[in-house]
Amino acid sequence: MPAQAAPADPSSPTVFAHRGASTEAPENTLAAVRRAHEQHIKWIENDVQRTKDGALVVIHDATLSRTTDVEQVFPDRSPWRVADFTLAEIRRLDAGSWFAPRFRGERVPTLQEYLTLLDRDQQGLLLELKQPELYPGVEKQTVDALEKAGWLDQAHLAGRLVIQSFSADALRRTHELRPAVVTGFLGSPPVSRLKEYAAFADQINPDEKDVTYAYVQAVHSVDGPDGKPLRVNAWTVDDLTTAVRMAALGADGIITNRPDVIRNGVQ
Ligand code: G3P
Ligand code: CA
Repeated sequence: MPAQAAPADPSSPTVFAHRGASTEAPENTLAAVRRAHEQHIKWIENDVQRTKDGALVVIHDATLSRTTDVEQVFPDRSPWRVADFTLAEIRRLDAGSWFAPRFRGERVPTLQEYLTLLDRDQQGLLLELKQPELYPGVEKQTVDALEKAGWLDQAHLAGRLVIQSFSADALRRTHELRPAVVTGFLGSPPVSRLKEYAAFADQINPDEKDVTYAYVQAVHSVDGPDGKPLRVNAWTVDDLTTAVRMAALGADGIITNRPDVIRNGVQ
């Protein structure tokens, strides 16, 4: 195995807008999708969780405190878990002002709204099942929602949808439900266990700190459930130096809060 990385692949990695264009608009809102769309970023990453009354919503944290005004609106509802609020309650919250006053009135989107806003014919979705252990059955519910929205047709299965998670169990369940859906494991399993993960994951998506040339080569040498080599998407890369390094190490994709900057720098 070469000790030194090869020069950056001129074909360059895919750029994923992490939580949307999240340095320019509040993360995981429709505004962040619109901004990424304006920047002609094809792939959007988001996080999916579930309300008390069973609605799938797009939000990163398991609590509403950091990215909404929930503590002002519902002061007696500590610890303000997503799972303890109904969709109607969550829809009352402002999910934009914490980021900048001009985004006042942004709401926590439902997955359905989010899918409707995405350009089905142009954009791709890297959908993270966030803390799926809190939401039994969320894998099937998410797959059903994607199907209803037309996101499980051949074109999407062939290259416009990935479901990822830090939970191997959730990915295994997702793969069992719909083997054709591309799945990504968030983390960096040891090389000796990559074949186990390749039974249900098409991608290994590590923290960029764990990415080495040898690791990428090892991942690429294992075939996923569809018989194609596993892919590697590194997160979260917001500076060009690291992005160029990821490209040089052979990463297939870069997940970033600054998609326009990274795209312009590595492509
Ligand atoms: O897509 C990778 C990344 O989103 C995983 O971490 O905490 O931002 O969801 P986190
Ligand atoms: Ca995420």
